Amino acid sequence: MPDRLSVVVTRRLPEPVETRLGELFNVTLNETDVPMSRDALAEAMKGADVLVSTLTDEIDQRMLAQAGDRLKLIANYGAGFDHIDVATARQRGVLVTNTPGVLTDDTADMTMALILAVPRRLKEGAAKMQSGEWDGWSPLGMIGHRVTGKRLGIVGMGRIGQAVARRAKAFGMQIHYHNRKRLHADIENGLEATYWESLDQMLARTDVISINCPHTPATYHLLSARRLKLLKPTAYVVNTARGEIVDENALIRMLKAGEIAGAALDVFENEAAVSPELRDLPNVMLLPHMGSATVEGRVEMGEKVLINIKTFADGHRPPDQVLPSML
Ligand code: DGY
Repeated sequence: MPDRLSVVVTRRLPEPVETRLGELFNVTLNETDVPMSRDALAEAMKGADVLVSTLTDEIDQRMLAQAGDRLKLIANYGAGFDHIDVATARQRGVLVTNTPGVLTDDTADMTMALILAVPRRLKEGAAKMQSGEWDGWSPLGMIGHRVTGKRLGIVGMGRIGQAVARRAKAFGMQIHYHNRKRLHADIENGLEATYWESLDQMLARTDVISINCPHTPATYHLLSARRLKLLKPTAYVVNTARGEIVDENALIRMLKAGEIAGAALDVFENEAAVSPELRDLPNVMLLPHMGSATVEGRVEMGEKVLINIKTFADGHRPPDQVLPSML
């Protein structure tokens, strides 16, 4: 292993993170912060020991085939790693790490904000004020729906799903969840949560659905057109996980037809492209993939990246290694 690892960072990171990376390693930064083209990324992977990637880098089999022999670690800046072909990386002897845990609360806060925002019509209310159209209070003005007492169905009850459940419980919502594995009874009891082995059955019985599972081959279009049709017409869909988990075209069709009451989406199927049809719907709130966007969280993500690279450089297994079996 060389004295100082050569590290390529594909996007701008918070200043303290970039500074510390520079102190520890031979770092090449992407000063422009424009996502790297495939050619630029391939070039970067030829000469680097470590690549610090983000979800805007598609590191698939073809990309990995072009990597140089030096590349030994992809230290992803982010929890989700569905943009990296972890199995191929492993075959080529390249470790992959991520940054779990530090963005749980921020993402859960944003999810809760969206769970409140759509039934209570925050987007429409804010737009009315900004356009200067508001002419005062009225008994029927801007009436939305109460979340207290409603059933929240959480799809994916990992760290973020559980953090959403804690918040929603505090707002008086009834917690329902679907997960590959049922939670330990202590956690379930603490949340007063109801487990549904059958996602279909849960979807038909809940008022708000929150997507909080990772995107894997098994969860691609988990909310398919068929499953979305199981939702009540009064239901809302909130997605702060990954766009690919919901069949976005089917969702748009149903929102337009009034077959679902509304949706709040922080993530999209073909980011950064956002369907104009979604933008035009009044009962849809869109955010630019900002669930984890806090200064504190982004610095902590950087610290995780630093620890993963440093541990690797010191000859140890990085703490946040991800494996193909985790998909
Ligand atoms: C992640 O870490 O995967 C998030 O989606 C980025 O905020």
